[in-house]
Amino acid sequence: MELGFLWFVFTALIGGFATLYGLLKRANGWFYESRLGEKRYTLPPGDLGWPLIGNMWSFLRAFKSTDPDSFISSFVHRYSRTGIYKAFMFGSPSIMVTLPETCRRVLTDDEQFGPGWPISTCELIGKKSFIGISYEEHKRLRRLTSAPVNGHEALSIYLKYIEKTVISALDKWASIGTIEFLTELRKLTFRIIMYIFLSSESDPIMEALEREYTALNYGIRAMAINLPGFAYHKALKARKKLVAILQSVVDERRERGASSPPTAKKDMMDALMEVEDENGRKLNDEEIIDVMVMYLNAGHESSGHITMWAAVFLQEHPEFFQKAKAEQEEIIRNRPPTQTGLSLKEVKQMDYLSKVIDETLRVVNISLVVFREAKTNVNISGYTIPKGWKVLVWFRSVHMDPEIYPNPKEFNPSRWEDYTPKAGTYLPFGAGSRTCPGNDLAKLEISIFLHYFLLNYQLERINPGCPLRYLPHMRHTDSCLARIRKLPSQSE
Ligand code: HEM
Repeated sequence: MELGFLWFVFTALIGGFATLYGLLKRANGWFYESRLGEKRYTLPPGDLGWPLIGNMWSFLRAFKSTDPDSFISSFVHRYSRTGIYKAFMFGSPSIMVTLPETCRRVLTDDEQFGPGWPISTCELIGKKSFIGISYEEHKRLRRLTSAPVNGHEALSIYLKYIEKTVISALDKWASIGTIEFLTELRKLTFRIIMYIFLSSESDPIMEALEREYTALNYGIRAMAINLPGFAYHKALKARKKLVAILQSVVDERRERGASSPPTAKKDMMDALMEVEDENGRKLNDEEIIDVMVMYLNAGHESSGHITMWAAVFLQEHPEFFQKAKAEQEEIIRNRPPTQTGLSLKEVKQMDYLSKVIDETLRVVNISLVVFREAKTNVNISGYTIPKGWKVLVWFRSVHMDPEIYPNPKEFNPSRWEDYTPKAGTYLPFGAGSRTCPGNDLAKLEISIFLHYFLLNYQLERINPGCPLRYLPHMRHTDSCLARIRKLPSQSE
């Protein structure tokens, strides 16, 4: 009798847990899908995961493992290769798109899709930055801010500064022994973007700002938990300091405004302070500062990472290293004797090096995903993307698709020989009206760095056993301890 009762309680408990589990597992789906009426039947396949956390747990687990692609693979495995899946990500019901044609469609259709970054990211980058402003305002500010970093003329102005900065950084690293390679490269790319945007070369300001940006970036990639000790909390504090520093620059420029001669050199900050819309309205301080916070961040973080990876990949693949180096030596040999240093024409002749950079951008996938939001109900491939849902454009899946790039995890610059990617299959800088405005500048910086690195240096990693994963949010990429050795025979 007693045993029978215990058995009954045990079965009831198991049954109760199973029912609760089943209910909880479906709760998110019911909650968000039931509001869609008939449209819910045409949602893409997928699942909205658990209440509150949605699919974030499996996402984070995959991205902390050695196989980040297992996250999307699990959708492909369960729901077939539709390339469009529903999920609950970063606190919102979302549609993830993973195939070239759908990614491109979302990125290029401004009528139906607007920016959709998580609120936590907007809080850090700024509500008045490009990810928070109206379509028209974005178009206007983008035109104003991208001109100074694009095109032949602008780039030739910065080339000499970049070259000088790269030469002196490499020289310094070679003399100090072990360095944190990524940290140093971030400082280098930050110095360059500060020069272009703020005309600043002051070391203390530069170091202080760069430190705050490091904290900001950890926060962007962390769970948005605003409690002491958590990365997001530290990032919010870092943002406050960044805003305060930039505010003091704005104040100082306003003060000396009238007294500075009209011939004084203008930088991005000046341009933002002067620009007026068609009604004569100028940007207020918050708008200027948010655009600067965004540009200074976007303008150094990714370039620093990609430069590190390109150097590491080259050093790990002697055959590619030699080929890239031979190309740089050839450029030096063909140089007129009167010329000192690199010219933009020479950078454009770096055909093989350009393939090395393209391949690094593909393999590393520094911007693995970008966010949009559906402005209206949209039909893609017969599926509905409901109005207000987030759309995650998953670049990483496109770049890691074996049907597009055979053996995708392998770093192989030769795959770019006689190969032009089809539309939507190569998106390291995005596409459409939000394509990265700094793409030419980024490639220029990386090319100049690799030119001098290949000709004169060698990289020796101190902890080669420590896996350097291709993921920007992995803290330990920062501990890429390395020595930069100067080679005995130099040609500069
Ligand atoms: C290797 C280096 C870089 C990579 C991989 C990269 C990647 C990207 C990607 C994928 C986007 C598109 C985001 C979206 O569609 O929502 C983007 C946007 C952006 N990037 Fe870059 N970027 C790099 C370097 C730079 C540099 C050097 C600058 C500064 C001059 C810069 C400034 C920006 C800005 C301001 C945006 C926002 C554009 C907009 O919303 O209109 N980036 N970047």
